[in-house]
Amino acid sequence: MAKVTISILNADYGHMQGFVDKVSNADALQFDVMDGHFVPNLTMGPAMASSIKTKLFKEVHLMVTTPSLFVKPFADAGVDRIIFHVEIKENKDKVIKMIRKEGKEVGMAISMKTPIKKIMPFLKKVDMLIIMPITPGFGGQAFDPKVLDKIRTVRKASDIEIQVDGGINDIAGKQCIDAGANNLLVGTFVTKSKNPRKTVELLKRL
Ligand code: DX5
Repeated sequence: MAKVTISILNADYGHMQGFVDKVSNADALQFDVMDGHFVPNLTMGPAMASSIKTKLFKEVHLMVTTPSLFVKPFADAGVDRIIFHVEIKENKDKVIKMIRKEGKEVGMAISMKTPIKKIMPFLKKVDMLIIMPITPGFGGQAFDPKVLDKIRTVRKASDIEIQVDGGINDIAGKQCIDAGANNLLVGTFVTKSKNPRKTVELLKRL
């Protein structure tokens, strides 16, 4: 069993509230925020996070060079958790402190190409990790099974919440849970499915 978190990145932006209503059986909603600099894509801002009405836990995945600029705007937009990348040049302890000051949970994400040892010093400082089987920037990419060893390494060292984000479907999701992940971040597999609600149910039974 794992939590199922839905990324709206590849959903229909013209019918976003309707889509979110369909996946009310998920555990959480994730807003993928990209600045066109940290990753070569530009997506949504705090207005999307505040305009979507849902009882689901809301988290923002900041794929941005300077996350400190976005902490307060997203905290004010009502998200419950703010996640930033270990690869940033900004002082990571400063960003963690800023998020804590807003009373929000802290998450840290690591890209496929980054060695897992980079994130190990933060296991006791954050509430959850995103371990990515892809290079951040776009939904619908292929799952890289090399991520499974990274999940096992963290799980051996800590019982922290581990979310896997990128290329997740029922097969990859099961592999990640067996490796020690307890939160599946799913975008395309749900947003493009004929029955998003049923697809969430399938993932929750893994
Ligand atoms: C990429 C994003 C995606 C998205 C989910 O930077 O973080 O991983 O949320 O991707 P798919 O559509 O592959 O589930």
